[in-house]
Amino acid sequence: MARRFTEKKLVIASHNKGKIKEIAELLDPFGIEVISAGDLNLPEPEETENSFIGNAQLKSLAATKAANLPALSDDSGMAVSALDGAPGIYSARWAGPDKDFDMAMEKVQNGIGAHPDRRAAFICALSLAWPDGHVENFEGRVEGEIVWPKRGRHGFGYDPIFLPKGYDQTFGEMDPAKKHEMSHRADAFRQLVKACFKQD
Ligand code: IMP
Repeated sequence: MARRFTEKKLVIASHNKGKIKEIAELLDPFGIEVISAGDLNLPEPEETENSFIGNAQLKSLAATKAANLPALSDDSGMAVSALDGAPGIYSARWAGPDKDFDMAMEKVQNGIGAHPDRRAAFICALSLAWPDGHVENFEGRVEGEIVWPKRGRHGFGYDPIFLPKGYDQTFGEMDPAKKHEMSHRADAFRQLVKACFKQD
């Protein structure tokens, strides 16, 4: 059984405004006061683990220890089958210090080359940690394939080259509200809420 969240305050262990807003909206119905890591001036730990869950947990534990409050973190990325799961946990790093995702998307396309297997998945790990060191982790996924050239201007990161399975619009073309209902992040959120936040 997962530990239930019964506290009043929660730190979002992220400095990314988009992620903080999405998480705060999700938690709104539960009457929890959400504080961001930036508000508390918490440092951003280096992501040294080799899995999404490992890196998410590293961030949630660092934040809960520093703030002495429960903390929730998110680590996500895109895994391409023909590239043995790359860029994976290095999805943000493939775009370099200038966050050049046009360059990162070209790197993905060039890496696949003429390979017939164009399958890819977006993955999102969420980690909820308490000051006593207890952790609950969840991983959400959405399957799809890489298209080229890029399609659409919505979203961020690799969205314009990711076509989710069963849809005819890339994440870049899709209405953001629709993406938020069926994304890897939505999948992980649903698992987290069911296990730790929902009233019986
Ligand atoms: P993180 O902030 O270290 O978790 O890095 C996540 C990276 O994965 C982002 O910078 C994006 O490159 C990529 N990513 C994660 N989720 C999405 C998504 O929904 N669309 C597009 N790219 C994403």
